[in-house]
Amino acid sequence: LKVLSVASEAVPLIKTGGLADVAGALPGAVADHDVAMTTLLPGYPSVLKAMARARAVHQWDSLLGSPARLLSGKIGAKGAEHPLLVLDAPELFTRDGTPYSDVSGKDWNDNWRRFAALGRAAADIAGGAMVRRGKPQGFDLVHAHDWQAAMACAYLRFAPYGGARIPSVVTIHNMAFQGWFGREIFAQLGLPPRAWTMDGVEYHGGVGMLKAGLASADAVTTVSPTYAREIRSGTFGMGLEGLIIARGNAVSGILNGIDTDVWNPATDKALASSFTARTLERRMANKRALEADFDLDEDDGPLFIVVSRLTWQKGMDVLPEVLDHLVGIGGRLALLGSADPHIEHQLFEGAARHPGRIGIRIGYDEDLSHRMQGGGDAILVPSRFEPCGLTQLYGLAYGCIPVVSRTGGLADTVIDANPAALAAGCATGIQHDGVTYDALAAALTRTVDLYRQPEVWQKIQKNAMKCDFSWKASGKAYADLYRSLIA
Ligand code: ADP
Ligand code: GLC
Repeated sequence: LKVLSVASEAVPLIKTGGLADVAGALPGAVADHDVAMTTLLPGYPSVLKAMARARAVHQWDSLLGSPARLLSGKIGAKGAEHPLLVLDAPELFTRDGTPYSDVSGKDWNDNWRRFAALGRAAADIAGGAMVRRGKPQGFDLVHAHDWQAAMACAYLRFAPYGGARIPSVVTIHNMAFQGWFGREIFAQLGLPPRAWTMDGVEYHGGVGMLKAGLASADAVTTVSPTYAREIRSGTFGMGLEGLIIARGNAVSGILNGIDTDVWNPATDKALASSFTARTLERRMANKRALEADFDLDEDDGPLFIVVSRLTWQKGMDVLPEVLDHLVGIGGRLALLGSADPHIEHQLFEGAARHPGRIGIRIGYDEDLSHRMQGGGDAILVPSRFEPCGLTQLYGLAYGCIPVVSRTGGLADTVIDANPAALAAGCATGIQHDGVTYDALAAALTRTVDLYRQPEVWQKIQKNAMKCDFSWKASGKAYADLYRSLIA
């Protein structure tokens, strides 16, 4: 079974969030189930750099108006590589900035063209446009991730290459980003007039790219069962709840896994001291290193960590409010976050009030994120919504106890240390309802109380580290889904 996975980011070539981790791990996850997955990525500068000697295997004189060629290479760690196709369209993708915005953080104003072109290319490739030794190299199925790839599903349905009928799956990693553009772009998409309907790409008088994918794909998945339920309501569906409900059983939730080669405390080279559930005492060296790294006092109280985009989704606007409480109950905090001027400012104010107790690092640092999971006692993930969330899974694997809001994938992956779970000996973390000062403060207090009971805390750590959030189960779930659509 040949599947083309289409995404706007994938590790290790380009990453702004969890989508990259998932798109990077998926080929390995489904390979065990006889699915040969090729990944299609846009040719951003960082991606092209890794493709220096790649062969061009196809070209377009005009892909939605831009010349483009297709490069063939490999993605993945040595020994675990998978086929990669890169859409090299310099007019669209060769620019400084992030995949979505310029260096000042403003979205590119031709994002509609950039990502519609990605979708058009995917549909062409799947349909057999790429020819090797006289033979078209088509695919059995296309798997599109988020709005940036979702137009692939619409092209496969309304304007397939060579008329081939190829099934598609669209995965929602985040309903908050829908890719909506004004109606004037429709004429330039190269879709037939019949695609301009409520059941097609039209959405509130313009073109909705995620909407087009949800309406056109043969199956819709999202990255946790709870989020799959939540997006049936307005709060989480963000306008698309009606369509989600209408798609009925075509919508399902498949939990993300983690790459256990990259996220394994027993072998993690980033750590000062590697450890397992049986050698938890070896975590202490990591904690000491982390304290030094963040200029924090050395003490035996709980060290909280945060590794996050600094956004409203992640509850990072409420975090500054609970800093005084966190410190008041004997905690310290090491935070690594991406830039957001307003939230940053509030966090630095909190840090200034509590020297030695709160350390803030702004920027993106993969290595540091590993050291934080390996040295922190608990990771805070107070998200307002969370399709799956990966940092709590890394926390579980590293015995860095997740303190999370009860939503989406956080609800599905953490077992709250309530009296029943403690009595049964199966708690793996702390959950709170809602993202308010009161909810967070109470969860912090509860965490510190548990931390001060070393035997109870260690049991929670061991339970957490025993959880299997590898791709084993979910790789099979995707493979089963693909097969059901081909049959
Ligand atoms: P989202 O994709 O919504 O941001 P996830 O939890 O699914 O949330 O994935 C976030 C990913 O990005 C994780 O791999 C996390 O470790 C990583 N990450 C987030 N912020 C940073 C940062 N500032 N530095 C390093 N890694 C980060
Ligand atoms: C999105 C979501 C996050 C999820 C990730 C990967 O960025 O916000 O919850 O883990 O995609 O699926």
